[in-house]
Amino acid sequence: MDFPITRLRRLRRTEAMRRFVRETSLEPSALVYPLFLCPGEGVRREISSMPGVFNLSIDEAVKEAEEAASLGIGGLLLFGLPESKDEQATGAWDHNGIVQQGLRALKQSRSAKDLLLIADVCLCEYTSHGHCGIVHKNGDDYEIENDASVNLIAKTAASLAEAGADIVAPSDMMDGRVEAIRDELDAAGLEQTPILSYAAKFASAFYGPFREAADSAPQFGDRRSYQMDGANLREAMREIEQDLGEGADMILMKPAMPYLDVIRAARERFDVPIGAYQVSGEYSMLHAAFAKGWLEPERAMMESLLSIRRAGAGFIVTYFAKEAAKVLA
Ligand code: PBG
Repeated sequence: MDFPITRLRRLRRTEAMRRFVRETSLEPSALVYPLFLCPGEGVRREISSMPGVFNLSIDEAVKEAEEAASLGIGGLLLFGLPESKDEQATGAWDHNGIVQQGLRALKQSRSAKDLLLIADVCLCEYTSHGHCGIVHKNGDDYEIENDASVNLIAKTAASLAEAGADIVAPSDMMDGRVEAIRDELDAAGLEQTPILSYAAKFASAFYGPFREAADSAPQFGDRRSYQMDGANLREAMREIEQDLGEGADMILMKPAMPYLDVIRAARERFDVPIGAYQVSGEYSMLHAAFAKGWLEPERAMMESLLSIRRAGAGFIVTYFAKEAAKVLA
């Protein structure tokens, strides 16, 4: 009889032993918490498909930021719901846009010194049609114009950095935006502001609840002419290579759980900080199962985050940031 000499169970017997040999860990400082800023005062409106996530007026967002800072969370990712929308996405690059105002308020609050303020840079929350760029209509056909969109996206990034963003994070997937943003930032004397590029962003069904939260669903068509096809890993590597070549300082992969292999491939190939975005649909589907009593909330949440870490993400954007930080405390 050949009894096993190697018994892997020896190292699993007690929590002390398991902790001692654990390969992957999580820290609150690696979590980024998304906030949706809206006009008004004292507004705290829950997103129906995202329990525990709110549209917040700036005064409420400041309170939320203070709580996030006290939990040791690394940063906030800011989105905006403007008062009004138009074809040129004026609210995105307006000096007095909702996120620009929010950034100024957050910079003045006690929390700011401990939290990185990351501004999402996109036009979709600000365009009347909900696309991430400028639309050129041609009868029943339409085209999202790359270069005209890039001009406005670069202008948006500079305006957000000027208002106090520590990091700008373009999520539009237009070609050439990173280079254009770098130029615009440098020309404005903001050469120290890093760019976190959503380099590999897939056209995903898992963004559904976000479009309710940010009121940004496209009014016609879809985003497949600019966001990536979910079947393509090699193309994701090209997207990353291109963004790094244009001057991206860090990259973000999105969504996370359905694309763990892409995160792993990026980690092995590129020596820059890599983050992953556990998107709205990933959060909502877990919450739906929690509500049914089908999954244990704390364990499922922590396992989902750990898997993203293990795949190679250094930091994780997640709507669970506060809950997870509490567990880690
Ligand atoms: C803006 C943007 C989106 C998300 C982040 N930035 C929406 C989209 O591309 O439709 C999705 C985030 C989430 O689902 O949590 N372009």
